[in-house]
Amino acid sequence: MSTEEKKFETQNLPTKTYFWPLKRYQDLYNSALTDSEGFWAKHSDVLSWEKPWEKVLDWNPPYARWFVGGKLNMSYQCVDRHAKSWRKSKVAIYWEGENGDTQTISYSDLYENVNRYASVLKKLGIGKGDRVTVYLPMIPEMVYILLACNRVGAIHNVIFSGFSSQSIADRVNDSGSKMVVTASGGHRRGKILPLKEIVDEAVKSTPSVEHVLVIKYTGYEVVMDPARDVWAHDMLKDADKYVAPEAMDSTDPLFILYTSGTTGKPKGILHGTGGYGVWACNTLKWAFKPTDESVFWCTADVGWITGHTYVVYAPLALGLTQVIYEGAPDYPSVDRWWEIIDKYGVSIFYTSPTAIRMFMRHGEELPAKHNLGTLEMLGSVGEPINPEAWEWYYKNIGHENCPISDTWWQTETGGFMITPCPGIQSFPLKPGSATLPLPGVDPVVVDAEGKELPANEIGFIAIRKPWPGIMLGIYNGDELYKKTYWSRFPGWYCPGDFSMKDSDGYLWLLGRADEVIKVAGHRISTAELEHALVGHSSVAEAAVASRPDEVKGEAIVVFVTLKKDVEASADVKRELTHHLRTAIGTIATPEEIIFVEKLPKTRSGKIMRRLLKAVANEVPIGDTTTLDDETSVNEARAAFDELL
Ligand code: WTA
Repeated sequence: MSTEEKKFETQNLPTKTYFWPLKRYQDLYNSALTDSEGFWAKHSDVLSWEKPWEKVLDWNPPYARWFVGGKLNMSYQCVDRHAKSWRKSKVAIYWEGENGDTQTISYSDLYENVNRYASVLKKLGIGKGDRVTVYLPMIPEMVYILLACNRVGAIHNVIFSGFSSQSIADRVNDSGSKMVVTASGGHRRGKILPLKEIVDEAVKSTPSVEHVLVIKYTGYEVVMDPARDVWAHDMLKDADKYVAPEAMDSTDPLFILYTSGTTGKPKGILHGTGGYGVWACNTLKWAFKPTDESVFWCTADVGWITGHTYVVYAPLALGLTQVIYEGAPDYPSVDRWWEIIDKYGVSIFYTSPTAIRMFMRHGEELPAKHNLGTLEMLGSVGEPINPEAWEWYYKNIGHENCPISDTWWQTETGGFMITPCPGIQSFPLKPGSATLPLPGVDPVVVDAEGKELPANEIGFIAIRKPWPGIMLGIYNGDELYKKTYWSRFPGWYCPGDFSMKDSDGYLWLLGRADEVIKVAGHRISTAELEHALVGHSSVAEAAVASRPDEVKGEAIVVFVTLKKDVEASADVKRELTHHLRTAIGTIATPEEIIFVEKLPKTRSGKIMRRLLKAVANEVPIGDTTTLDDETSVNEARAAFDELL
């Protein structure tokens, strides 16, 4: 290794100047582009294939099918191959409940539980291709159930436990799920989330559901419908110890995960097996450089894509030890997470800018009370991280020893796309930039016509080639798939984010360019909120905008015109808030509701969203933007609006 390369290896400090070339990174990056077949042939080794694949990629735009002809099972990757090796006694999961309960789960425990749950699913008539909706808290059974679904070839459809009965019913119906798996309750800030009760309400209008499988948790009393509901602990008594993993085609679906787009209805993002698995494992290795000694902790809920890929699939397929924590970050006190890092000796810690900003508010004394010296790598995800939060994280959590992988990606991309990758080569970081694309990712920053922009100009990001983690499509939504992602810049994948490439080639991801907003990193569509609002008997018209929020990144601001005979009042505001929480879930809680006489519209009747946004922003809650050129964003937004 040359002295210059050595400098790279040790230098992780944020800096504006750095050494070029990034040899190891660039060699790998180039080989993924110039010899895609050879590159992915080599990197597909990260999984154990029951039948080797015949073709790396079948690219029939806009559909990409990876590792065609190959057969494999994801639960085999995550449990069998470890349970049969020296890793059988290795800890797979340190689980900690919000109330202080703990479990240490080895890979052989995991193997046993996944098999038994697979047997339960089979006995309840679940098999290959069936859809199973999962509405669970962050308990070990969440992992068992997902892997048990894989094992029998079923497609899981996880719904975050903050969503309402109505949202569950919509997703169950769209996916045609035969079963819903839930728990009697879950813990959240010392209270019980009545999950089974919420499901009971939902399944009143879901004719496809034959069974609700219930895991007893929290001691919360529930009512069981004998014709439909089944206790997991009863079924487990007679469960088989071993269920042979179903040999799935690499291109078979693994899961559906609903996410918000620009339409009023969430889209069921459908992911495949082989390509997704290869992408999940390699991206984790590249961005976080895990070893068998690592203790990995991704704080995301499995209800979101981050939890799917970086709590369930990648860490378990790689045989890592990880921490799963059930509850809120600030319960019973705001140093709960630092206590957990200290207790389990966490070495890789991956969380969101919203969490970091929340901790910043409470001061550096709290993390300082705990030993965070085991940390080696940090990560951030879900929304742009502002440089202040980045610096605070780097200094107070990483103690200036840990690089931060700011990972930019989406539900649709399956895994990280643009991120620092110390697992390939360390390079200097810039707070607020997700840095460089991973091998296989070919991004370009373009204007509204799809013309590549010069350095330092803000435009839209597009991806010019398919990568293994790309979704199979939208469940029940072929036309929507083509229109949403592929029609704007034909042939290229359009993520819908603003971006800028600086003169060093680093990419800055600057937030959504469409009507999707990110509240505490959670993805919500303004159309979905508006659709729900007009469903309320007092509302004539509704429009939703976002406002910057010091902690949550963005907050929801609602504009409504009321029906003739309805008086604007605090009561109506309360009712509308309640209505949104019931129609969508707690993540849809508005920050502010503004009653207006008329919504601003163009002559053709289109709501002038930029105007509403300007009004929503009139009451600034602090500067959270990472941009120094607001005007160009507005110009870019104007151009984007034209396209919509
Ligand atoms: C945003 C979450 C800036 C982005 C994994 C994207 C980010 C949307 C980052 C996808 C990041 C995610 N920097 N923005 N590091 N990570 N985003 O599907 O706007 O919930 O389009 O996936 O989150 O959200 P999703």
